[in-house]
Amino acid sequence: MSPRIYTEQEIEKIRVSALLVGDTLAEVAKMISPGVKTLELDRMAEDFIRAKGGIPACKGYEGFPYTLCISVNQVVVHGFPSEYELKEGDIVSVDCVIEKDGFFGDSAYTFMVGQVDDSVRQLLEDTKASLYKGIEQARAGNRTGDIGNAVQSYVEEKGYGVVRELCGHGVGAHMHEKPDVLNYGRRGSGCLLKKGMVIAIEPMITLGKRNIGVAKDGWGIFTLDGKPAAHFEHSLTITEHGNEILSSFEKVENILKDK
Ligand code: MF3
Ligand code: CO
Repeated sequence: MSPRIYTEQEIEKIRVSALLVGDTLAEVAKMISPGVKTLELDRMAEDFIRAKGGIPACKGYEGFPYTLCISVNQVVVHGFPSEYELKEGDIVSVDCVIEKDGFFGDSAYTFMVGQVDDSVRQLLEDTKASLYKGIEQARAGNRTGDIGNAVQSYVEEKGYGVVRELCGHGVGAHMHEKPDVLNYGRRGSGCLLKKGMVIAIEPMITLGKRNIGVAKDGWGIFTLDGKPAAHFEHSLTITEHGNEILSSFEKVENILKDK
């Protein structure tokens, strides 16, 4: 099956869901501080999303039990919210998917808890920058491999690792659709991008080696060397002349700069 091409009306609905994810992540940003249990973030997010008429799409997806994926330090993605209390120096990836009016938005941000080591702070900055390097390549006529190559070359040159076992994806009428959007690869390889496609790009970048394991809960993905990893994600659509990001970090970053 080839990737779905969305109408403008459908893309508007995906945008509404994606922006609600941004609003949810901004509420999470307000709460992030030492002593907060990650389960408290999850409960707040579920209440917030439902109050806005959205459905927390991860909850129940292939048995995933929570609204948010909350991944601390060496956990890369798909961490379970828990009784763990955030502490100064932690980093925490918060990934959220919302369905509203039949359409899905997907976005993730990695937060710092208080003061964080310089090398880890730099990892976050560079991972976010790699997301935008990938987004720059997301245009009609390019292929998914152009996105992956841009992400990979940007971060590997800085000595980081790219997690290869997971990837970005099409998103819209379902949480995960064609095409796969790898965070590595060759220019000119992969799926041809066309106007009206909607994809989520989500680099997962490690400070140390790229090798990962799966937690006993069957979900959490962690670095085998125990070093931290970062994860940022946007949903975006391919347009006539490039792309348009449908999710937004604007509210999140407004909260963070006033903290
Ligand atoms: N939000 C993740 C993604 O970016 C998917 C989470 S898996 C789930 O694709 F089971 F938690 F939904
Ligand atoms: Co995603």
